[in-house]
Amino acid sequence: MYEGLIKRYKKYLDVDEKYIVSLNEGNTPLIRAKNLEKILDGVEIYLKYDGLNPTGSFKDRGMTMAVSKALEENKKAIICASTGNTSAAAAAYGARAKLKVIVIVPDEKIAKGKLAQAIAYGAKIIAIKGNFDDALESVKKISQESDIQMVNSLNKYRIEGQKTAAFELIDDLKELDYFMLPVGNAGNITAYHKGFKEYLKDDKLKKLPRLFGFQAKGASPIVENKVFKNPKTIATAINIGNPASWDKALNAIDESDGQIDAITDEEILNAYNLLAKEEGVFAEPASCISVAGLIKSYNEGKIKKNSKVVCLLTGNGLKDIDVCMNNMDFDIKNLDDDYALIKEEILKDL
Ligand code: F0G
Repeated sequence: MYEGLIKRYKKYLDVDEKYIVSLNEGNTPLIRAKNLEKILDGVEIYLKYDGLNPTGSFKDRGMTMAVSKALEENKKAIICASTGNTSAAAAAYGARAKLKVIVIVPDEKIAKGKLAQAIAYGAKIIAIKGNFDDALESVKKISQESDIQMVNSLNKYRIEGQKTAAFELIDDLKELDYFMLPVGNAGNITAYHKGFKEYLKDDKLKKLPRLFGFQAKGASPIVENKVFKNPKTIATAINIGNPASWDKALNAIDESDGQIDAITDEEILNAYNLLAKEEGVFAEPASCISVAGLIKSYNEGKIKKNSKVVCLLTGNGLKDIDVCMNNMDFDIKNLDDDYALIKEEILKDL
């Protein structure tokens, strides 16, 4: 039986087994994107669908580690700043571990599904009139001034857990040429880089995949090399103006011969639409930036022919259905329950 990523990768993770808090996270599907391949001719494309983790995002990978370690270190409470997914994961794993959980989120800029999760799992929720970067400042301070454990990705155990996604990719694919992913606070790109390097060292991988990171244009501090005081994007998960792991992201990109680029909200929505309609995969907007980024890079001639590319889908589309309802073109036919009318409506489009 699969029992979560700490047990699967215990050789690479330092945790005392008796403190493990797990929801059997990890082991997410790698899906071949055959219809996207028809559009981007000559490239082998896979989707790593991490939105199928227990709380619907990749954050569960880091949270199983951070919460297990919090227990091992006898902490009683955990805290995080979040654009939504980290708070959902912290609330779930914290509930399971019987820890007190406090989450600080930017008021109004968090997707409803994510807020609902924090409510359901019973976290204490503080919504501030400020953005993620402001929230993180308070979290850093209180975790220094008290015994509350910070579980943002500045907590090294989060990175340890998240690096296992790189292991899974290599265990499944053996080699890949490019890896496309969203960049917000830049913890995840740091974690993948660490994971790939550890596999390289263990001879499980021959060369590092090139890491292509993408930020939303309205929140692209690393791309523009300046802090964004008022970041703004439809991809609320990565609406971050001053990433905590900025330097580590630059190092990961540099060492892997990668790049970082900015993607418009329009390009994100196009990829969101394409993924759902062409591949049957519903991922939240921030996730779709990896596919939008692949399309842009391909069109700019940056992807070599016959290469193998993985796009990371970090979060589930169900987290943020407002984006779908407010931005997709759809037409719901409201009819009386009259079979003749229903039949006519169906047959006229066939
Ligand atoms: N994709 C999704 C769906 C996210 O929620 C995040 C970050 C990222 C990508 C970017 O990852 O920050 O490691 O570069 N969400 C954080 C949160 C900030 O609070 O849930 P990163």
